[in-house]
Amino acid sequence: MTGKTHQPHLRFGSDQAPDASTPYAQYVHLAELHSLQQPVSAEPAEYTFIVATQVMELLFDLLHREWTAARAALREDDLTAAGDALRRGQHTQDVLVSSWDLLAAMTPGEFNAFRPVLGEASGFQSSTFLLLEFLLGHKSERLLTMYQDSPAEYDELFAALRTPSLYDEALAVLARRGLEIPAAPAGSRREHDDAVEAAWRAVYSDPELADLARLGEALLDTAERVTRWRQRHYSAVKRTMGGKPGTGGSSGLSWLKHSADQDVFPELWSVRNEL
Ligand code: HEM
Repeated sequence: MTGKTHQPHLRFGSDQAPDASTPYAQYVHLAELHSLQQPVSAEPAEYTFIVATQVMELLFDLLHREWTAARAALREDDLTAAGDALRRGQHTQDVLVSSWDLLAAMTPGEFNAFRPVLGEASGFQSSTFLLLEFLLGHKSERLLTMYQDSPAEYDELFAALRTPSLYDEALAVLARRGLEIPAAPAGSRREHDDAVEAAWRAVYSDPELADLARLGEALLDTAERVTRWRQRHYSAVKRTMGGKPGTGGSSGLSWLKHSADQDVFPELWSVRNEL
């Protein structure tokens, strides 16, 4: 203890909730935050499900900020700043993966008790998640039809579809360093490309390109965590609803398995066959 009078170091704007009682409550919009969990059924597990979903949505958004920062840094050939943003993102991803613990104990009986209130709602419709997918390079214009009645989400996603992905910008760095990189397909998913794999092989084989190899490893750390999140989603679904079809209209488990089996940044994985 210093004995000094505590000086609040936070200042708040004039838009604070009138009933907020402490500076903390004002700053984090506590009353508003706690008013956002509104279960529809009498099943207590629905509250846990809502909290888990909202926590993950916030973390998706945080991750989007980090990956956007990493992409901007790559555009400037600033590998240090890109590495820092990816590393911060990896910590966010670790929390995202652990967030599945919130749902790990949910039984089929508990899930069935509130599943009807979901109607056709599915995390598959999360535009925040789709922005992350587009940043990874998993682009699909077809998915935008979901947002035809939500112009703001549609416009944001449409712009993201047309903007080079994080991986596109990483490959553009390689291209500026003299490696041969084929042009990215505009607005559609980048599939595995032998020429991109050859470029990464050159990077990993040349000590003078060690900074690019470090970038490759940072991207791989990110990729692995994306897959980990998908695998834990798959396990949670298998536990709570088995192989039944999803509320979003997919086949459920088999669809999620296919999604989890897709390598993120595929050439960074396949190049390992040759190293
Ligand atoms: C145990 C609870 C959950 C079940 C049973 C479940 C089930 C499913 C199913 C079956 C799908 C496939 C699409 C469909 O037909 O609906 C799906 C997709 C998806 N869910 Fe969940 N889900 C659960 C929890 C969550 C949570 C908490 C989130 C967090 C936001 C989430 C986010 C997503 C996303 C982003 C997709 C699309 C995945 C992709 O494109 O790979 N899910 N979910």
